Amino acid sequence: MDPKMWIDINTESHQYSLDHFVIPDHYETALSSVLIPHGVIMDRVEKLAKLIVQEATGPLVVCCVLKGGHQFFADLVNYIKKNVTRGGNSVPLSLEFIKVKSYSGETSGEVKLSLTDDECKEFAGKNILIVEDIIDTGKTMVQLLAKLKKYSPESVKVASLLIKKTPLSNGYIPDYVGFSIPNAFVVGYALDYNEYFRDLDHICVISEHGKEKYAIKN
Ligand code: HPA
Ligand code: MG
Repeated sequence: MDPKMWIDINTESHQYSLDHFVIPDHYETALSSVLIPHGVIMDRVEKLAKLIVQEATGPLVVCCVLKGGHQFFADLVNYIKKNVTRGGNSVPLSLEFIKVKSYSGETSGEVKLSLTDDECKEFAGKNILIVEDIIDTGKTMVQLLAKLKKYSPESVKVASLLIKKTPLSNGYIPDYVGFSIPNAFVVGYALDYNEYFRDLDHICVISEHGKEKYAIKN
């Protein structure tokens, strides 16, 4: 996607006070601001669904990257269904779920897929849409794509709700992007910090206190 086509969130103008939104009590002190309110996320996901349907050339295998992608995936699939029933381009969907583990500590940084070789063989000749929550360094996605391409799909496109502006980026840009965000750690809308904050509707910036409160304790 051409960067001109996505919403650029910059820190100065897009930090909403927590007081202006409903935040679960258990996260109130763990966040510093609301970056993208839930309603704005939903409106943007609806637009991405419309673009995806317009550009689809055949049945789609919509592939959710767990766990962070699950909320975006669920809302995106719902909007694609709605678009079709409202007379948009008609696209049959099948749904797939993958868990990707990346071993960033190792020099190879290799990713491991939860799908078996036999399950991946089902991708041959199909149009795949990978649905991811965030592109950060881009390493995981580049490797996931390389792995999937070995199974000879007809096409592979990627929809990521967020892309982070980080100096560590490898330059990878997905086919569909919701928002580009500042180089901060964000949580909510299924994005987690140590498995917490997935149960928060808005995308928020975590606070220093939040990082301590929800740190892994041994
Ligand atoms: N938040 C949650 N998960 C992530 C992030 C982030 O900012 N970057 C990469 N994975
Ligand atoms: Mg992810």
